[in-house]
Amino acid sequence: MIRREFLVRTLSAAVASLFARDVFAQHSMHNMSGMGDMKDMPGMSPDHATHSHAAPSAGNLAPESALPAGAPLAAFRKLANESSEPGVFRATLVAQPVHRHLMPGHSTALWLYGDAAQGSIVGPLIDVREGDTIEIRFVNRLPQPSTIHWHGLPVPPDQDGNPTNPVAPGATHVYRFTLPRGSAGTYWYHPHPHMMTAEQVFRGLAGPIIVRAADDPLAAFPERHLFFSDLKLASDASIASNDMMDWMNGREGQFVLVNGARRPRLTVAQDERWRLWNGCSARYLGLSLGSAQTFTQVGTDGGLLDKPRDGLPELLLAPGERAEIVVRAGAQPSTAVLTAAVYDRRKMTMTEGHSLPADPAKVLADVRFEPGTSAARALPPTLRPIAPLLSSADGAVDKVPHKSVVFAEAMDMKAMHRPGAMMSALPPGMKFMINGATFDPSRIALTSRAGEVEVWSIENRTDMDHPFHLHGTQFQVIEREQAGAKTPEPYLAWRDTVNVQRGETVRIATVQRDAGERMFHCHILEHEDLGMMATLKVV
Ligand code: C2O
Ligand code: CU
Ligand code: CU
Repeated sequence: MIRREFLVRTLSAAVASLFARDVFAQHSMHNMSGMGDMKDMPGMSPDHATHSHAAPSAGNLAPESALPAGAPLAAFRKLANESSEPGVFRATLVAQPVHRHLMPGHSTALWLYGDAAQGSIVGPLIDVREGDTIEIRFVNRLPQPSTIHWHGLPVPPDQDGNPTNPVAPGATHVYRFTLPRGSAGTYWYHPHPHMMTAEQVFRGLAGPIIVRAADDPLAAFPERHLFFSDLKLASDASIASNDMMDWMNGREGQFVLVNGARRPRLTVAQDERWRLWNGCSARYLGLSLGSAQTFTQVGTDGGLLDKPRDGLPELLLAPGERAEIVVRAGAQPSTAVLTAAVYDRRKMTMTEGHSLPADPAKVLADVRFEPGTSAARALPPTLRPIAPLLSSADGAVDKVPHKSVVFAEAMDMKAMHRPGAMMSALPPGMKFMINGATFDPSRIALTSRAGEVEVWSIENRTDMDHPFHLHGTQFQVIEREQAGAKTPEPYLAWRDTVNVQRGETVRIATVQRDAGERMFHCHILEHEDLGMMATLKVV
């Protein structure tokens, strides 16, 4: 294990924030040549690119009360289908700078999909069906290269918005793929450019996807959609830049938004199916409606579970993860607070060997239960059969190819203080690695054969949790191992993202269908940008 040589305690807060601003300014500057959109980039006026004054830091963030709360839960904007052909979904997504008044009396420069002068700041919902052919024209009006990645969907590798397929500022690219049978589920899309994913997402770029099945056993349930995202605003309402702690632990803003708004309210009058997205850059959401109100999990990233999981008081969603739950209206009127409960992901501090205390619980939304006469709905005992990728027969796991993925970190104080280090694109000296190396777009880390089931062991040798994500497929978690004790995964589910606790090893069964290059990475977006990503080549 690489020891954390983390002597950053000598680095004052002032230096840290100066450092962060320079990193941000420099990072954006080198992609800005020839672009006319400077005014849309907070911190990008020429005086901000010098050392003349302090950048927004923890000291001058907007207070949590700065964003209005309590509005009815916003519905998603919906991406319109421009095609009238059956089975074809054709649409245009424009990524562009947009000004919105989130804080009364202030304007915030966001980057959004669509002009979104009104409505939710979350990207428009792509609502499609199994079997549909999707054709999305992506127009990049950002001052940086970008891509659209279809998180979790089984799309061909060359259509998946890999960082090696950037769409230049001003350019247009058409993504095309067909959704196979069995792909119904809850997905999302977001940018995936090399080393700029975190920034593009924290400025607002991300949106939900729902793929529907013709034979959905829960079609009778009314649906509710909750897309959680994080927002960090300076006191002048501009999007704050990343500071050192954001790079190290992943960015968490003072706001957690639900469908783009702070602490909305909703009324549940009958049993409902909720689709949940953790679209936060780094925040873990231990979702709870309080101890009096349990719920039933019916789905994960890749769609419905085999069987419902009843009576859950809490459900942890790591960054990037989705879930479907059924929330009961109950028999009596009541209220509940949807909360992200305390979860200790062992955020690091500037002092070696110490973790930050866990964050306090965070209120997400207010829920009223007002059951009507036909409130209750029965759940089928089997939602859809899921065949295990590997049979539980003795030895089946040993007969397939095995791959090892090791998460490691290294903090190098000397590099951080080298002259000029602060002017480099990303914080130097802070390394988040997979199998001993940071991401190199020209290197293939692992090779798999299309159609061949494999067992991957994902081992976390760092001091904090990391959510592992693999592109292009849905996998099954087999077991988790912590301090030598193995716990078989108690239920069958399709996932593309799984949390790996510090010191833990998670084993998954996985198979890729198409030849080409796939990414796998930590879904804390700052870690991804700092190199905790690698390429799988499928042959
Ligand atoms: Cu949601 Cu490679 O990412
Ligand atoms: Cu993905
Ligand atoms: Cu990570």
